Formats: sequence, C-alpha cells, structure tokens
Amino acid sequence: MSNIARFTVSIEDDLLERFDQYCQEERFATRSEAVRQLIHDRLTTRAWETGNDEVAGTLTLVYDHHRPQLGKGLTKLQHDNTDLIVSTTHVHLTHDVCLEVIILRGSANRLQQVAAQLKGMKGIIKGELVVARAEV
Ligand code: NI
Repeated sequence: MSNIARFTVSIEDDLLERFDQYCQEERFATRSEAVRQLIHDRLTTRAWETGNDEVAGTLTLVYDHHRPQLGKGLTKLQHDNTDLIVSTTHVHLTHDVCLEVIILRGSANRLQQVAAQLKGMKGIIKGELVVARAEV
C-alpha cells in the first residue's frame, strides 16, 4: 500500500462551503476521502480521454459563417479525417451564426487532436467535445 502524504490547499471560503455541502450530500466520511475520490476520478477520465482507447464523441461548434476561410478550413479538416468522422449536422442558427455537431469515433488521442484543431480555428465562438467510451 502507498504511503499517505499530506498537503495543504488554499481555497476560497465560499467554494469550501459548497464542497462541504457536496461531501455531506454524497456522504463522504471526511474531506480527504472526497478529495481522494475526485482526484482519482479525474485522473482516470483524463487517462482514457487522451489515450489509445477506442472512444466515441460529439464535437459541437458554433461559429461565424461570414469567415470564408473558416468554412473551408472546417470542411478540409473533416475531409482529411474521414476515418474518424462518422457524421456532421449543420444548422444555420441565425443570419450570421452556424452550429455544427460532428460525431467522431476512433482512438482517444487522435479524436482529441482533431477536435482541438477544429475548435482552435479562428472565428469559432464555442467549441466543446464530449467523449464516451465506445465499450463499457
Ligand atoms: Ni450555416
């Protein structure tokens, strides 16, 4: 078994109050138990999100369609990764703004990489990737 280390955390009092409420509602015996579990959950999630596991995901993009380079760039990047991209749905939200939902499937690290490239394009107003394991 690992040795137990202690560390000090500085935190705003209102955030601590909310955390204590969370600990109470989730019936954690101590704050340490709750922090341990949250760290463990987050690190586990991060490991598979960025690893080689087969995952599926949706990437939601909101962008200004008046930028011609952006539209071309989004299309090109999707055509360069047809093995990852399952489907794309485009909605013309307003006169100026488009919503695109891209469904992806493949290794987690490639999926993250392509999503980051798409999200990072100039003119993207919002970009959010949601990833799930393809197998349970
Ligand atoms: Ni549109």
